[in-house]
Amino acid sequence: MGRNTFANQVVWITGASSGIGEALAVEFARQRARLVLSARRRDELERVRQRCLDTDAGRGTILVLPLDITDHDAMPAAVEEVTTTIGPVDLLINNAGISQRSKCLDTDLAVYRRLFEIDVFGQIALTRAVLPGMLARSSGHIAVTSSVAGKVGAPFRTGYCAAKHAVMGFFDALRAEVDEHGIEVSTIVPGFIRTNISKAAITGTGEAFGRTDSNIAGGMDPDAAARVIVKGLARGKMEIPVGKGMEMHALWLKRFFPGLVLRLASRIGRPDE
Ligand SMILES: NC(=O)c1ccc[n+]([C@@H]2O[C@H](COP(=O)([O-])OP(=O)(O)OC[C@H]3O[C@@H](n4cnc5c(N)ncnc54)[C@H](OP(=O)(O)O)[C@@H]3O)[C@@H](O)[C@H]2O)c1
Repeated sequence: MGRNTFANQVVWITGASSGIGEALAVEFARQRARLVLSARRRDELERVRQRCLDTDAGRGTILVLPLDITDHDAMPAAVEEVTTTIGPVDLLINNAGISQRSKCLDTDLAVYRRLFEIDVFGQIALTRAVLPGMLARSSGHIAVTSSVAGKVGAPFRTGYCAAKHAVMGFFDALRAEVDEHGIEVSTIVPGFIRTNISKAAITGTGEAFGRTDSNIAGGMDPDAAARVIVKGLARGKMEIPVGKGMEMHALWLKRFFPGLVLRLASRIGRPDE
């Protein structure tokens, strides 16, 4: 079921301190949604809150709620705070995430675990904390930011691709469970978007990669991406592909020409020398 507007809807965005999450916050503020902004850095969330308030329509309620997505114990209290101060969650966007830049054999097992803690278990845990309220009201919408890397393998990202594939499977299965209860599930599938993702990506030893690679630098503008995503969410789309580069063609090409996509991915996915 689609919706025309998010006015007065309670929209909770994780990873809202930067990149796609920040741009989504601004776009939802334009639509007069009641917003909950989560990530670890409170100062960056306050900056995003101000950006939201600066939009023409952004005079609505905005709750800054710092949350480390790996801190599962903090989630019940966070859900309680949202529900009591703003209202029950209409749309949860599980968007927090971290990428990887390292070859398989150079990657500590602890780095694989960290990628899964943030990119998979964090999303599952928050979803499980929010879902009971939606089931009780027989209404709600849960979204997750996966990736083209959740459909197509790319080098230097074995852990990230595995995590994004996992998320794709989890939320597909969840959709099949909750559809009959009136709850929508959308999977966002971005290609390269111009954000902090490669700078914040972790290397094989868990250090920050610290550089913006050219794929990301040449990627889609996050505000443009947010407009596509919000439109897709309003329509209740199950999958929302968003991006402007060749990588987007890989989504359908892989079905018919897997060898071609393998050669392209091996080349495109390589970090700059
Ligand atoms: N940019 C792309 O090309 C691209 C492509 C496909 C998919 N994606 C996905 O899009 C999502 C958003 O990424 P982005 O591109 O916008 O990158 P970004 O600018 O680096 O933003 C990542 C966000 O995740 C938050 N985050 C990271 N670790 C966290 C933790 N432990 N707890 C809570 N929040 C955490 C960060 O906030 P704090 O540091 O303040 O916690 C930040 O707000 C991610 O899931 C990413 O995998 C991005």
